[in-house]
Parts: sequence; structure tokens; C-alpha cells
Amino acid sequence: MADLFIRNISLLATPLCANREEIIRRVKKIPRAAILIHDDRIAEVGDEASLSQVIPRNTPTYDAHGMLALPGLVDCHTHPVFVGNRAQEFHQRNAGKSYLEIAAAGGGIQASARQVNAASIEQIVKESLPRFNRSLACGVTTIESKSGYGLEWQGEEKLLLALSEIEKRIPQRLHKTFLIHVLPETRKQDREAFCREAVTEIIPQVASRNLASAIDVFCENGAFTYDEARAFLTAGKDSALQVTVHANQFGHSGGAELAAELQARSADHLEFLDEREIGLLAQAGVVGVILPASVFFLGASPYPPARTMIEHGMRVAIATDMNPGSSMTESLPFCLTCAAVHCRMSPEELLWAVTLDAARALRDDSNIGSLEQGKLADISFWNLPDIESLSYHFGNLRAAAVTVGGRIVYEDCDASRRY
Ligand code: NIG
Ligand code: FE
Repeated sequence: MADLFIRNISLLATPLCANREEIIRRVKKIPRAAILIHDDRIAEVGDEASLSQVIPRNTPTYDAHGMLALPGLVDCHTHPVFVGNRAQEFHQRNAGKSYLEIAAAGGGIQASARQVNAASIEQIVKESLPRFNRSLACGVTTIESKSGYGLEWQGEEKLLLALSEIEKRIPQRLHKTFLIHVLPETRKQDREAFCREAVTEIIPQVASRNLASAIDVFCENGAFTYDEARAFLTAGKDSALQVTVHANQFGHSGGAELAAELQARSADHLEFLDEREIGLLAQAGVVGVILPASVFFLGASPYPPARTMIEHGMRVAIATDMNPGSSMTESLPFCLTCAAVHCRMSPEELLWAVTLDAARALRDDSNIGSLEQGKLADISFWNLPDIESLSYHFGNLRAAAVTVGGRIVYEDCDASRRY
């Protein structure tokens, strides 16, 4: 028996690929559409006139009031578990200091770490939860979230436990990642031992206690070297964690090569990326996750070369990078506007980048990322006429309604508004 019939959709748009290796970013559009949901999955997608003929009588109905229906958005790179804020640093940067200078003076990630290490799990949960709620209001049904502001293992463990608690309290799907971000201040004299402990004790423990499903490392000048990052990620792989890398944010750090060599699920940031590195990533099937809001917010680096990445056959996803230092936003739609303007991506490429290719970055594209028979019924509804408008309205765009697994988990209290 079908569980829910969603009707009165003015336009349904979804990425579609005949086979998973196909790179052409086709978007299927169905005007006057409807969706039939059985349990938590999509049973049928089609035009309303034909679908209404086949639905069983008395099927509960949801009237979409002429909204645009898209797959639930996937934010595949965020750091939303932290306490306090770093608004001062934002203004210091605008007054001329660089991100790396602020970090070298004990600010940046170390400043967040001091606050996290002084906080309880409950406080971390309480301060972080609203960020997940705002993300949901932006149409995000699956969110990847990293630890990374504890630095010391005790702090990291606290963040991963806070994430597990948050997972119980939010309707979205959560992918948890253990991020080895920078060396803790207290271990400056002790770098080798820190790295050894991470490899032999911490990473296997994260995997065996199921605290995260993936491992990430900040491979950059001032964070971890190629060799250190390689050791962490290899230990992660050996413990069956998925692998991803913060790569090439401030220079050619070796992160992109490393991602290709280890066949990481994604390489993220990629502001400094040449054609050789792009070729390696494309060949290894690594998704390039670009984070244009962090480039915007830091105000200093080039935007990633998304056009060249696409031309070389790379899958490109877009994520918020939500974090207190370089990207204080939960708005994935805002990131679309940034990528449209600065990376010259088309409406179809943008849609793919926050749905099916973002799902691919999380290696979850067989379940989520498109509105197709058999996929999980994660849908975002918008008071917009078409996909072109999704990046055109910027700064305040919210979803009108959201379903996760066929359950309505969010409705804008002013859903009558049309953008
Ligand atoms: O992805 N680049 C490394 N990590 C974060 C920023 C962390 C911070 O500044 O708090 C990022 O941009
Ligand atoms: Fe990040």
C-alpha cells in the first residue's frame, strides 16, 4: 500500500543518468508532476494526470501548491559542531591580516579548540543544533559533518559523541567524519608521537567504535604534510573508513595527488589546482568538492577552476564548508550563486553539484541525490518557477517544504510567498 501521494507540483526537476559512469549532466523536467511514495522510498515519479489513474484509493495526499520539487539537497562538507564564534577574526582579516597569519598567532582553529575543550558535550550539542535546523530550512536533507575542533583526542571524541547525539535529534541524514585538522598547541614539541598515536590508536578506535564513517585530514602548509596526511588516511582505509582530503586550499599542498593516489571519495577545496592534478583526480574518480562560500568569506584566494575540472571529466560537488573561521553560513543556495558567478557553472551543473554529485562524494548516490524510482523519498520544495531561479535569488532563499524518507519534516511558515 502506498503511503503518500504528492500532487500539484508545477515542475519536478532531477538529475538523471542512464548509467553511473555517464558524466553528461542531464536534468529531467516533468511539468505538472506527482510523486508516489511507498514506505520511505519513491515508488513512482511522473505526470500527475497519469499517476492519479494508478494510485490506490484512499492514499493520503500532500498538496504541493504548485511548488518546484527537487531532490533534497546534499551538503557534503561541513564543520558545524563547535562553540563560541570568531567574528573578531573575520574583521581582522578585512582590516588586512591573512587567515594564515591569524592562525600562526594562536587564533583560527586553535581558538575554536580552546573553546571546545572547555565545553561539555551538552553545551556543544545545544550550540550546534540550530545550525542543523537552518541547514534543513535551506533544503538540505543529507549533511556531512566533521569533527576537527577538539584537536586533542579527548576533544575530538567529545565532538564525535556530540554528533551522535545530534543525529538522534534531527530529521536529516547525517554522515559523520573524523577530521584531523591541525596539531594541538600542547603537542608542538611532540609532533611525531602525536601522528603515531593517531595512526596506531585513535583512527582504529574511531572506526571500531563506529564514531565516524570517514576520515579527513587538512593537508596544507601549517597543518599536515603530504607524508603525515598519507599515514592518517592509509590507517583510515585499513580500518574501513572512507577517505576524503582538505586539499590545495592555499597552495599545491600535495593533497590532490594524495586523494588521487588513495582513490579518496573526494578532494575538497581545490582553490590551487593545475591541469596535471585535475587529470589525476579525474582518472581516479575522485569527486572535486568546491567550497565557494569559504573563498568568498576569506576574500583572498582564487575560486577553484570548476570549468576545467568539468571539461576534464571530473564530478564537481558544491558544499557550504559551514564553520566558524572560513564559512559562517548554512546556506547551500548561497553557495550556488557564488559558483554561478565565480566558477561559471550552469543551472544544470549547479543542480547536479548539490544533489547527485554531492551524494556521489559521500558514496551514497545509490540511495539519495535524485528523484527516481527506488531512491529514498528525500525531496525539497521551493516557491520558485524553475531551476534557473535556485541560484538567482541569493542571500535569503529558503525551501518551502522538505521531506526525508517521505515524511514532511519542514514547512516554511510563510509557504505562500513566491520568490
Ligand atoms: O575547511 N581549511 C581548513 N578547515 C576549515 C576552516 C577551519 C577554521 O578556520 O575554523 C575549512 O575552511
Ligand atoms: Fe572544511
